[in-house]
Amino acid sequence: MCGIVGYSGKADAAPVLLEGLARLEYRGYDSAGIAVLNCGAFSVVKRKGRVDALAEARSLPGHLGIGHTRWATHGAPCERNAHPHVYRNICIVHNGIVENARALRAECEVRGEAFASETDSEVIAHLVAFSYGQRGDLLAAVHAACQKLRGSWAIAVMCSDLPARIVCARMRSPLIVATGKEECLIASDVPAVAAPGRLVYVQEDGEYAQVDGGHVAFYDAALRPVSKRPVACDPHTDLPQKGGFTHFMAKEMSEVPQALLHSAIGEDDRQYLQLFKVLCQTQYIYIVACGTAYHSGLCAKLAFEEFARIPAEVCFASEFRYRTPIFPKNSLVIAVSQSGETADTLAAASLAKACGIRVLAVVNVPHASLTRLADHCVYTDAGREVAVAATKSFQAQLASLYSLAALAAKARGRQAPSLAGLPALARETLAVSQAVRAWTPYFVGARSVFFVGRGADYCAALEGSLKFKEITYLPSEGYPAGELKHGTLALVDASTPVVVVLTCRRLAEKTLNAVHEVSARGANVFLVTNFSCDTGGNVRAGVLLPRCEEAYSPALSVIPLQALAYYVALACGNDPDKPRNLAKSVTVE
Ligand code: AGP
Repeated sequence: MCGIVGYSGKADAAPVLLEGLARLEYRGYDSAGIAVLNCGAFSVVKRKGRVDALAEARSLPGHLGIGHTRWATHGAPCERNAHPHVYRNICIVHNGIVENARALRAECEVRGEAFASETDSEVIAHLVAFSYGQRGDLLAAVHAACQKLRGSWAIAVMCSDLPARIVCARMRSPLIVATGKEECLIASDVPAVAAPGRLVYVQEDGEYAQVDGGHVAFYDAALRPVSKRPVACDPHTDLPQKGGFTHFMAKEMSEVPQALLHSAIGEDDRQYLQLFKVLCQTQYIYIVACGTAYHSGLCAKLAFEEFARIPAEVCFASEFRYRTPIFPKNSLVIAVSQSGETADTLAAASLAKACGIRVLAVVNVPHASLTRLADHCVYTDAGREVAVAATKSFQAQLASLYSLAALAAKARGRQAPSLAGLPALARETLAVSQAVRAWTPYFVGARSVFFVGRGADYCAALEGSLKFKEITYLPSEGYPAGELKHGTLALVDASTPVVVVLTCRRLAEKTLNAVHEVSARGANVFLVTNFSCDTGGNVRAGVLLPRCEEAYSPALSVIPLQALAYYVALACGNDPDKPRNLAKSVTVE
């Protein structure tokens, strides 16, 4: 989703901003821009499309600047709506959504102010300019403007009167400040600015930061100074490399075995004992998450119930945040998120905290907002995931969540199967999954595609379907195999590819009923299984995976589904790394 970069220092700002924006490209965006201040005037270059299109801005003179990648919410993705927005002597970039923008815009228009864009963000430039005109102090003006906003924001503001100053504000959208030798950088994400020798500070909700060359000062919501400590983070954040693969998605799928290996929690892990204690006390689990993370939660629910006999409920975070949930005694909320910045997941976790419930975060990105909000944190160790479509992070979440289920089982004197063999099995699965490339012609141009299964296979089917629609733009649905006949079967005809996931042996006959039902309607059936079964000649093609513990099978069965989505996306001429309309980190509601 939108990205922010800012620079104040001795170097030329423009190249630093462009480099930072390039590092944020993975988040997903549809336009980009930078503004540099020189001799009291802003030079602004904005373009629809990629950061590359800003190349001409590289030579802009000036040592102070802000930049932005925009993912359209209010107003079409076009140059006019791209950030930065300038109004009078004020220039701003904004991530988030100003929910009361219409009312605020009307207020400004009453004062005779004209707007240049359709965005909600531009109103911030107007509010700051108005307050600055009254107060003559940029920090106080940004503070006054923020008092009027509803919604979420990370803002960086420059004033043409102040040659080295950027003021930042944050509410429910991430923002960090990095200090180096006689320079300060701001960004929405650590990789944009982290480098050896720089210290990174995380701004909290409601806080303000004022940057002047190499100096930064932080203030609380009442503008009282606050002192902050830098956080430890990896300074080696070079631009991510594809490492010989054509796409990040292909590279990240190939990293699934390592993700499984590194994300499992072992007895020698630092937080093992603490988690054991937490799970000893836990009698009810809510898992809150979105998208792929929601699907890993569905898989984990089955493991918590089967191995630990703890009841678990999985909720879309976007729904949970507006519920009035009943928390049984000793409930634990597990918030799962690759980015740790998903607005809905953060809100769901905040709701639980406000109700006095402990929150355990399962997160892949260090220092993410969710890790600071949670009482306990498990880092999945998938490594950086760049492709918008989550792949290795799904399996990493499974490894962490299955480990938690095993720990919860142990806490109750029960035993869960070992996860130790999964990475090697994942390697085998990656090899056999190449076969799905041959299925591609049956899927390209399909009116609708179904992914079906039962139990854990149904969870895998849901994730396979999400991946498929996300990058192929073809309609698809994940469905419980047993439910087809209750309505959805009406959609199936000879043009419908149906992918059946079947690793759950005890339900094999039942799942095979679905194979017969859809093939009787002429559908082409593609089978993902790990045992040989009699399909009565009703299957067009299949892939045979290595056997694994039934409850853990989604960690493997999703691999050919990820590969299928990837190959079909390529055949459709789509860029699988940057699907249209989608962002890696969904920081707005
Ligand atoms: C998955 O391929 C998606 N890009 C999306 O569903 C994602 O999983 C979801 O937005 C949640 O993101 P998070 O894990 O960073 O919270």
